[in-house]
Amino acid sequence: MKQAITLAELRSWVTATRARGERIGLVPTMGFLHEGHLALIRQARSDAEIDRVVVSIFVNPLQFGPREDYHTYPRDPERDRELVREAGADLLFTPAVEEMYPPGFATRVEVQGKLTTVLCGRSRPGHFQGVATVITKLFNLVGPDSAYFGLKDAQQVAVIQRLVADLNFPVRIKVHPTVREPDGLAMSSRNTYLSPEERKAATVLYRALCSAQSLAHSGERRISELEEHLRRIIRTEPRARLDYAEILSWPDLEAAECLEPGKIYLMAVAAYLGRTRLIDNLLLEVHP
Ligand code: PAJ
Repeated sequence: MKQAITLAELRSWVTATRARGERIGLVPTMGFLHEGHLALIRQARSDAEIDRVVVSIFVNPLQFGPREDYHTYPRDPERDRELVREAGADLLFTPAVEEMYPPGFATRVEVQGKLTTVLCGRSRPGHFQGVATVITKLFNLVGPDSAYFGLKDAQQVAVIQRLVADLNFPVRIKVHPTVREPDGLAMSSRNTYLSPEERKAATVLYRALCSAQSLAHSGERRISELEEHLRRIIRTEPRARLDYAEILSWPDLEAAECLEPGKIYLMAVAAYLGRTRLIDNLLLEVHP
C-alpha cells in the first residue's frame, strides 16, 4: 500500500492509475477507524467495478462547529495505516490541513434547503457545508468512479447524493448498511468518549428505533405517534439527553403525517450521553 501526504503525491498516483485504465474507488474517512469504516473499504475492495481503492483520512476542520470536538477528535494514524493496509487499500491519502485549505482558501460548497437544515443540519449549522466542500475537493482530486459511504450517517448520504447529481460528478455513490456492536450500538469513532455507564446507556438509541419500527410494522401509521414513541423510550434513560427524534421521507427528508405503504422513511435520532453527541437511524418501509 502506498501513502500520499501531499496533493502532488496523490495526483501522480491518480494520473498513473488512470493512464493504465484502472477504475478508482474512494472511501473518505476522518480516521480512528473501526469495523464500520473497514466494511466500506472491504466493499470497495470486492467491488467488481473497481480496480484500485483509495482511502482518505482527514479530520476536516470545516465540518466542526466552534464548540465541537475538532481539537479532541480521536486520532491514531499508525493504527489506522495498518488497518487500511490489512483491509486491502492501494493508496492511503492523509493530507495536512494546510494542504487541503492553504492560506487564502475561500470557497464553500453548499447544498441548500431541507436536506441540510433538518435533523443534524439544525443542530450543527455549517456542518454539511463543510462536508460538501471537502467531498467536492476529494472527488476533484481523486476522480473516483465510485465512492463509499455508510448509512450510519444517512443525512450525509442524502446530501452527497444531491451534490453529485447537482454538480454532475461522474461518481457512483455506494451505500453500506450501519455496522453495529453486538448490543446494537452503531459503531462510531466518538464511542470512545463514553464512560462505561454512558456506553451502556447509549444502547437506548437503537432500542428506541427498533421499538418504533415494530410499532410501525404492527400497524401504527401516524408519524407523530411513532416520533413520540421514540422520544418516550429515549427519555427512559436518565443519562441520555434527546436532541431530536424524527421520521422524514427518504431521501428527500420531507415531513409527512402518515406512513404510506411502498414509500421509504428515515427514522433518525440524536442524543447526548454526557458531552458526547451520538446519532443513529433506521430506514422504515411499510407494506400494504
Ligand atoms: P467518518 O465519521 O470517519 O465516517 C467515514 C465513513 O464511514 C462515512 O461514510 C460514515 O457514514 C461511515 N461509517 C461510520 N460509522 C459507520 C458504521 N457504524 N457503519 C457503517 N458506516 C459507518 O463521515 C465522515 O467521516 C466525514 O463526514 C467524511 C465523509 C469523511 C467527510 O469529512
